Amino acid sequence: MKIAFIGGGNMAAALIGGLVARGVASSSFVVVEPAALQRETLRERFGVVAIESADLDALQGSALCVLAVKPQQMRAAIEGLGAALSQALVVSIAAGIRSGDVSRWLDGHRRIVRAMPNTPALIGRGVTGLFAVSGLAEVDRDLAARTLTAVGEVVWVDAESALDAVTAVSGSGPAYVFLMMEAMQQAACTLGLDERQARVLVLNTFAGAAELALRSDEPIALLRERVTSKGGTTAAALDVFEASPLRAIFVDALCAAQRRGAQLGEEFGK
Ligand SMILES: NC(=O)c1ccc[n+]([C@@H]2O[C@H](COP(=O)([O-])OP(=O)(O)OC[C@H]3O[C@@H](n4cnc5c(N)ncnc54)[C@H](OP(=O)(O)O)[C@@H]3O)[C@@H](O)[C@H]2O)c1
Repeated sequence: MKIAFIGGGNMAAALIGGLVARGVASSSFVVVEPAALQRETLRERFGVVAIESADLDALQGSALCVLAVKPQQMRAAIEGLGAALSQALVVSIAAGIRSGDVSRWLDGHRRIVRAMPNTPALIGRGVTGLFAVSGLAEVDRDLAARTLTAVGEVVWVDAESALDAVTAVSGSGPAYVFLMMEAMQQAACTLGLDERQARVLVLNTFAGAAELALRSDEPIALLRERVTSKGGTTAAALDVFEASPLRAIFVDALCAAQRRGAQLGEEFGK
Protein backbone atom coordinates (compact mmCIF):
# COMPACT_ATOMS: atom_id res chain seq x y z
CA MET A 1 0.00 0.00 0.00
CA LYS A 2 1.40 3.38 -1.01
CA ILE A 3 1.26 6.03 1.75
CA ALA A 4 1.88 9.70 0.96
CA PHE A 5 2.67 12.43 3.44
CA ILE A 6 2.31 16.09 2.50
CA GLY A 7 4.60 17.77 5.04
CA GLY A 8 7.43 15.89 6.70
CA GLY A 9 7.80 17.79 10.01
CA ASN A 10 7.53 16.61 13.62
CA MET A 11 4.10 15.02 13.49
CA ALA A 12 4.75 13.32 10.15
CA ALA A 13 8.01 11.87 11.51
CA ALA A 14 6.19 10.60 14.61
CA LEU A 15 3.53 8.90 12.49
CA ILE A 16 5.99 7.42 10.00
CA GLY A 17 8.12 6.15 12.91
CA GLY A 18 5.06 4.58 14.56
CA LEU A 19 3.94 2.89 11.35
CA VAL A 20 7.42 1.58 10.52
CA ALA A 21 7.70 0.23 14.08
CA ARG A 22 4.42 -1.63 13.45
CA GLY A 23 5.84 -3.32 10.41
CA VAL A 24 4.79 -1.02 7.54
CA ALA A 25 7.57 -1.24 4.93
CA SER A 26 9.71 1.91 4.48
CA SER A 27 9.28 1.51 0.75
CA SER A 28 5.53 2.24 1.15
CA PHE A 29 6.12 5.90 1.93
CA VAL A 30 6.57 8.98 -0.20
CA VAL A 31 6.96 12.23 1.72
CA VAL A 32 6.64 15.71 0.21
CA GLU A 33 8.81 18.06 2.26
CA PRO A 34 10.38 21.31 1.00
CA ALA A 35 13.13 21.53 3.65
CA ALA A 36 16.27 19.70 2.43
CA LEU A 37 17.58 18.95 5.92
CA GLN A 38 14.27 17.46 6.99
CA ARG A 39 14.13 15.32 3.83
CA GLU A 40 17.61 14.01 4.59
CA THR A 41 16.63 13.23 8.19
CA LEU A 42 13.54 11.31 7.04
CA ARG A 43 15.57 9.28 4.54
CA GLU A 44 18.22 8.45 7.13
CA ARG A 45 15.82 7.64 10.00
CA PHE A 46 13.21 5.66 8.10
CA GLY A 47 14.57 4.90 4.64
CA VAL A 48 11.57 6.58 2.99
CA VAL A 49 11.43 8.41 -0.32
CA ALA A 50 11.33 12.16 0.36
CA ILE A 51 10.73 14.65 -2.45
CA GLU A 52 10.87 18.43 -2.54
CA SER A 53 7.50 19.22 -4.08
CA ALA A 54 4.30 17.39 -4.85
CA ASP A 55 4.85 15.46 -8.03
CA LEU A 56 1.77 13.93 -9.64
CA ASP A 57 3.64 10.79 -10.69
CA ALA A 58 5.03 10.27 -7.19
CA LEU A 59 1.63 10.63 -5.49
CA GLN A 60 -0.55 8.82 -7.99
CA GLY A 61 -1.91 5.50 -6.70
CA SER A 62 -1.55 6.42 -3.01
CA ALA A 63 -4.08 4.54 -0.88
CA LEU A 64 -3.56 6.86 2.06
CA CYS A 65 -2.40 10.47 2.18
CA VAL A 66 -1.67 12.23 5.46
CA LEU A 67 -1.79 16.03 5.32
CA ALA A 68 0.76 17.15 7.92
CA VAL A 69 1.52 20.78 7.10
CA LYS A 70 0.70 23.80 9.28
CA PRO A 71 -2.86 25.11 8.89
CA GLN A 72 -1.62 28.27 7.16
CA GLN A 73 0.35 26.14 4.64
CA MET A 74 -2.48 23.76 3.80
CA ARG A 75 -4.17 25.45 0.89
CA ALA A 76 -0.92 26.09 -1.01
CA ALA A 77 0.31 22.58 -0.21
CA ILE A 78 -2.68 20.61 -1.53
CA GLU A 79 -4.51 22.74 -4.09
CA GLY A 80 -4.37 20.98 -7.43
CA LEU A 81 -3.53 17.54 -5.99
CA GLY A 82 -7.11 16.23 -6.31
CA ALA A 83 -6.38 14.08 -9.38
CA ALA A 84 -3.15 12.65 -7.94
CA LEU A 85 -4.94 11.66 -4.70
CA SER A 86 -8.17 10.44 -6.28
CA GLN A 87 -7.65 6.89 -4.94
CA ALA A 88 -6.51 7.93 -1.48
CA LEU A 89 -8.13 8.17 1.91
CA VAL A 90 -7.03 11.67 2.96
CA VAL A 91 -6.27 12.17 6.67
CA SER A 92 -5.65 15.77 7.69
CA ILE A 93 -3.97 16.43 11.03
CA ALA A 94 -3.96 20.24 10.68
CA ALA A 95 -5.59 22.12 13.54
CA GLY A 96 -8.76 23.96 12.60
CA ILE A 97 -8.84 23.30 8.84
CA ARG A 98 -12.28 21.90 8.01
CA SER A 99 -12.96 18.84 5.91
CA GLY A 100 -15.12 20.91 3.54
CA ASP A 101 -12.17 23.18 2.74
CA VAL A 102 -9.83 20.22 2.24
CA SER A 103 -12.42 18.69 -0.09
CA ARG A 104 -12.78 21.93 -2.06
CA TRP A 105 -8.99 22.32 -2.45
CA LEU A 106 -8.79 18.67 -3.60
CA ASP A 107 -11.39 19.17 -6.34
CA GLY A 108 -14.32 17.74 -4.37
CA HIS A 109 -12.49 14.74 -2.83
CA ARG A 110 -14.93 12.89 -0.53
CA ARG A 111 -12.89 10.33 1.44
CA ILE A 112 -11.59 12.54 4.25
CA VAL A 113 -10.85 12.02 7.94
CA ARG A 114 -9.73 14.84 10.22
CA ALA A 115 -7.42 13.91 13.04
CA MET A 116 -6.19 15.91 16.02
CA PRO A 117 -3.15 14.22 17.58
CA ASN A 118 -0.93 15.62 20.32
CA THR A 119 2.82 15.82 20.90
CA PRO A 120 3.23 12.70 23.09
CA ALA A 121 2.68 10.99 19.71
CA LEU A 122 6.42 11.66 19.31
CA ILE A 123 7.04 8.87 21.86
CA GLY A 124 4.07 6.71 20.88
CA ARG A 125 1.96 7.93 23.83
CA GLY A 126 -0.33 10.35 22.02
CA VAL A 127 -4.09 10.55 21.93
CA THR A 128 -5.92 11.54 18.75
CA GLY A 129 -9.45 12.76 18.14
CA LEU A 130 -10.85 11.53 14.81
CA PHE A 131 -13.78 12.74 12.70
CA ALA A 132 -14.99 11.06 9.51
CA VAL A 133 -17.00 12.91 6.86
CA SER A 134 -20.50 11.53 6.39
CA GLY A 135 -20.81 8.41 4.29
CA LEU A 136 -17.19 7.34 4.79
CA ALA A 137 -16.80 3.57 4.34
CA GLU A 138 -15.97 1.41 7.35
CA VAL A 139 -12.69 0.29 5.73
CA ASP A 140 -11.58 3.92 5.50
CA ARG A 141 -12.48 4.56 9.14
CA ASP A 142 -10.48 1.46 10.08
CA LEU A 143 -7.49 2.61 8.02
CA ALA A 144 -7.53 6.06 9.66
CA ALA A 145 -7.84 4.55 13.15
CA ARG A 146 -5.04 2.03 12.49
CA THR A 147 -2.78 4.83 11.21
CA LEU A 148 -3.22 7.03 14.28
CA THR A 149 -3.15 4.07 16.68
CA ALA A 150 0.50 3.70 15.63
CA VAL A 151 1.24 6.70 17.90
CA GLY A 152 -1.24 6.15 20.73
CA GLU A 153 -4.95 5.98 21.55
CA VAL A 154 -7.78 7.26 19.33
CA VAL A 155 -11.21 8.70 20.15
CA TRP A 156 -13.87 9.19 17.45
CA VAL A 157 -16.19 12.20 17.56
CA ASP A 158 -19.48 12.45 15.63
CA ALA A 159 -19.50 16.18 14.88
CA GLU A 160 -16.67 18.06 13.19
CA SER A 161 -17.13 20.98 15.60
CA ALA A 162 -16.20 18.61 18.47
CA LEU A 163 -12.65 18.55 17.07
CA ASP A 164 -12.21 22.11 18.35
CA ALA A 165 -13.01 20.75 21.81
CA VAL A 166 -10.57 17.87 21.29
CA THR A 167 -7.93 20.43 20.27
CA ALA A 168 -8.65 22.38 23.46
CA VAL A 169 -8.42 19.30 25.68
CA SER A 170 -5.75 16.96 24.34
CA GLY A 171 -4.22 18.80 21.35
CA SER A 172 -3.12 21.75 23.48
CA GLY A 173 -3.31 19.73 26.72
CA PRO A 174 0.38 18.78 27.05
CA ALA A 175 1.20 22.49 27.43
CA TYR A 176 -1.24 22.81 30.36
CA VAL A 177 0.37 19.79 32.01
CA PHE A 178 3.82 21.33 31.50
CA LEU A 179 2.53 24.56 33.08
CA MET A 180 1.28 22.65 36.13
CA MET A 181 4.59 20.78 36.35
CA GLU A 182 6.47 24.08 36.21
CA ALA A 183 4.31 25.61 38.94
CA MET A 184 4.74 22.57 41.17
CA GLN A 185 8.50 22.51 40.58
CA GLN A 186 8.75 26.20 41.53
CA ALA A 187 6.67 25.56 44.65
CA ALA A 188 8.92 22.63 45.56
CA CYS A 189 11.97 24.90 45.32
CA THR A 190 10.21 27.46 47.51
CA LEU A 191 9.90 24.68 50.12
CA GLY A 192 13.68 24.23 50.05
CA LEU A 193 14.22 21.37 47.57
CA ASP A 194 16.79 21.89 44.83
CA GLU A 195 15.87 22.01 41.11
CA ARG A 196 16.93 18.44 40.37
CA GLN A 197 15.14 16.96 43.36
CA ALA A 198 12.03 18.96 42.48
CA ARG A 199 12.16 17.80 38.84
CA VAL A 200 12.43 14.10 39.71
CA LEU A 201 9.66 14.36 42.31
CA VAL A 202 7.30 16.34 40.10
CA LEU A 203 7.77 14.42 36.84
CA ASN A 204 7.37 11.04 38.49
CA THR A 205 4.33 12.22 40.44
CA PHE A 206 2.60 13.24 37.20
CA ALA A 207 3.67 10.10 35.34
CA GLY A 208 2.79 7.77 38.20
CA ALA A 209 -0.57 9.37 38.95
CA ALA A 210 -1.53 9.33 35.27
CA GLU A 211 -0.52 5.66 34.93
CA LEU A 212 -2.47 4.78 38.09
CA ALA A 213 -5.59 6.51 36.74
CA LEU A 214 -5.14 4.85 33.32
CA ARG A 215 -4.97 1.40 34.90
CA SER A 216 -8.06 2.01 37.02
CA ASP A 217 -11.72 1.97 35.95
CA GLU A 218 -12.69 4.20 38.84
CA PRO A 219 -13.67 7.87 38.53
CA ILE A 220 -10.72 10.23 38.95
CA ALA A 221 -12.53 11.97 41.84
CA LEU A 222 -12.55 8.67 43.75
CA LEU A 223 -8.82 8.19 43.24
CA ARG A 224 -8.29 11.71 44.61
CA GLU A 225 -10.52 11.07 47.63
CA ARG A 226 -8.66 7.85 48.38
CA VAL A 227 -5.35 9.68 48.88
CA THR A 228 -6.98 12.45 50.93
CA SER A 229 -7.40 11.48 54.57
CA LYS A 230 -9.43 13.81 56.70
CA GLY A 231 -7.30 16.39 58.46
CA GLY A 232 -4.16 15.18 56.65
CA THR A 233 -1.54 16.91 54.52
CA THR A 234 -3.22 16.30 51.15
CA ALA A 235 -6.52 17.67 52.50
CA ALA A 236 -4.71 20.81 53.67
CA ALA A 237 -3.42 21.44 50.13
CA LEU A 238 -6.67 20.50 48.38
CA ASP A 239 -8.64 22.88 50.62
CA VAL A 240 -6.46 25.69 49.28
CA PHE A 241 -6.95 24.57 45.66
CA GLU A 242 -10.73 24.23 46.04
CA ALA A 243 -11.06 27.63 47.74
CA SER A 244 -9.61 29.17 44.56
CA PRO A 245 -11.48 29.41 41.22
CA LEU A 246 -9.18 26.68 39.81
CA ARG A 247 -11.95 24.61 38.17
CA ALA A 248 -13.53 27.69 36.59
CA ILE A 249 -10.11 28.74 35.26
CA PHE A 250 -9.81 25.36 33.49
CA VAL A 251 -13.18 25.92 31.83
CA ASP A 252 -12.22 29.47 30.74
CA ALA A 253 -8.84 28.35 29.41
CA LEU A 254 -10.25 25.42 27.42
CA CYS A 255 -13.03 27.62 26.01
CA ALA A 256 -10.36 30.09 24.80
CA ALA A 257 -8.47 27.27 23.05
CA GLN A 258 -11.70 25.94 21.51
CA ARG A 259 -12.59 29.42 20.16
CA ARG A 260 -9.08 29.79 18.72
CA GLY A 261 -9.40 26.44 16.95
CA ALA A 262 -12.63 27.60 15.31
CA GLN A 263 -10.98 30.94 14.35
CA LEU A 264 -8.03 29.11 12.71
CA GLY A 265 -10.51 27.23 10.54
CA GLU A 266 -12.15 30.54 9.50
CA GLU A 267 -8.81 32.26 8.95
CA PHE A 268 -7.02 29.62 6.90
CA GLY A 269 -10.02 27.93 5.30
CA LYS A 270 -10.59 30.73 2.80
N1 LIG B 1 2.63 19.62 17.10
C1 LIG B 1 1.48 19.36 17.69
O1 LIG B 1 1.31 19.28 18.89
C2 LIG B 1 0.28 19.10 16.85
C3 LIG B 1 -0.83 18.51 17.43
C4 LIG B 1 -1.93 18.25 16.64
C5 LIG B 1 -1.92 18.61 15.32
N2 LIG B 1 -0.83 19.21 14.79
C6 LIG B 1 -0.89 19.61 13.43
O2 LIG B 1 0.05 18.89 12.68
C7 LIG B 1 0.45 19.68 11.59
C8 LIG B 1 1.95 19.57 11.47
O3 LIG B 1 2.55 20.00 12.68
P1 LIG B 1 4.09 19.79 12.97
O4 LIG B 1 4.30 20.11 14.40
O5 LIG B 1 4.51 18.48 12.42
O6 LIG B 1 4.65 20.99 12.06
P2 LIG B 1 6.05 21.12 11.32
O7 LIG B 1 7.09 20.36 12.07
O8 LIG B 1 6.24 22.57 11.01
O9 LIG B 1 5.79 20.31 9.97
C9 LIG B 1 5.20 20.85 8.82
C10 LIG B 1 6.14 20.58 7.65
O10 LIG B 1 5.47 20.81 6.43
C11 LIG B 1 6.38 21.44 5.55
N3 LIG B 1 5.71 22.17 4.46
C12 LIG B 1 5.46 23.49 4.34
N4 LIG B 1 4.86 23.78 3.17
C13 LIG B 1 4.73 22.60 2.51
C14 LIG B 1 4.21 22.24 1.24
N5 LIG B 1 3.69 23.15 0.42
N6 LIG B 1 4.25 20.94 0.87
C15 LIG B 1 4.76 20.02 1.70
N7 LIG B 1 5.29 20.30 2.91
C16 LIG B 1 5.28 21.58 3.33
C17 LIG B 1 7.14 22.36 6.47
O11 LIG B 1 8.35 22.77 5.87
P3 LIG B 1 8.94 24.25 6.26
O12 LIG B 1 9.43 24.10 7.66
O13 LIG B 1 10.02 24.44 5.25
O14 LIG B 1 7.80 25.23 6.16
C18 LIG B 1 7.37 21.49 7.68
O15 LIG B 1 8.54 20.71 7.57
C19 LIG B 1 -0.03 21.11 11.85
O16 LIG B 1 -1.09 21.41 10.98
C20 LIG B 1 -0.53 21.08 13.25
O17 LIG B 1 -1.69 21.87 13.41
C21 LIG B 1 0.28 19.43 15.52
